[in-house]
Amino acid sequence: MKLSSSLAVIASLIHLVPTTVALVGSRWSMTNAPLTGLLDITFPMTIVEADHISGYYFAQQFSFVGIREIGYTGLQPRPDSNGNAVLHAAFSSFAAGTTTTDKNCSPGANGGPGVSCSVEWNGVYNRTYNLEVRTTGNHNWVGTAIDTVTGTEVQIGSWTLPVISGGILSCQAGFVEWYAAEPPCAKLPYQQTIFGDPSTTHAGSVGTQSLSFEYGDCVGQVAFHTGAVAYGVENNCGFRGQTGSADVTFVVQS
Ligand SMILES: *[C@@H]1O[C@H](CO)[C@@H](O)[C@H](O)[C@H]1NC(C)=O
Repeated sequence: MKLSSSLAVIASLIHLVPTTVALVGSRWSMTNAPLTGLLDITFPMTIVEADHISGYYFAQQFSFVGIREIGYTGLQPRPDSNGNAVLHAAFSSFAAGTTTTDKNCSPGANGGPGVSCSVEWNGVYNRTYNLEVRTTGNHNWVGTAIDTVTGTEVQIGSWTLPVISGGILSCQAGFVEWYAAEPPCAKLPYQQTIFGDPSTTHAGSVGTQSLSFEYGDCVGQVAFHTGAVAYGVENNCGFRGQTGSADVTFVVQS
């Protein structure tokens, strides 16, 4: 994979969701991946701080041997329910011909072919979730969010790719986007996330998350910052007290 193709994938996602504000990209890579692809990969992800409202999507993309279309998995904040935090996890395939029988999944992804799966649970902010993507054989893939403190596993969904597909390729990119509306950049709510170095059970493979970068319409306007942290890369952007709405501003409790 070339970096340019990762960026092309990001660009195509922007195109599919015109109201989405693309903000931050972040490349990952894995050494020593077999030519047939990896059978599992795990992306640690921590929403360090974000308002408890819908709008942000933090995701990692992955590609497969033999097909062009990608998959992705990620986390989104949700409003609290009965005083408890709620997180939304997503696991999607953009490949035409992807099938599913999973109750968390439905046909179509971002208005195109594929399958989208999601689950909501009482997730915890500032806690690392391992977003695992693993094949159970026969081109079937399962996405799971694993709480790294309690070990609790929440299955996000599962789907089956076309038979021409192989395992997961050794590099791709993740992103941070604001999908709820199109706020002027100065109204973007604050977020801080950590994209952890990916891992796999494949012997000898080591995953690395590169420093994040800005792209899209708000470059230079959202106080973007990125830096290396233990086992991953931090990024933050936006402004505390903003709701993301273009015409209303009031303080949100985070
Ligand atoms: C997140 O957790 C870290 C480590 O426990 C802590 O140092 C930090 O203050 C926390 N940040 C927030 C915003 O809660």
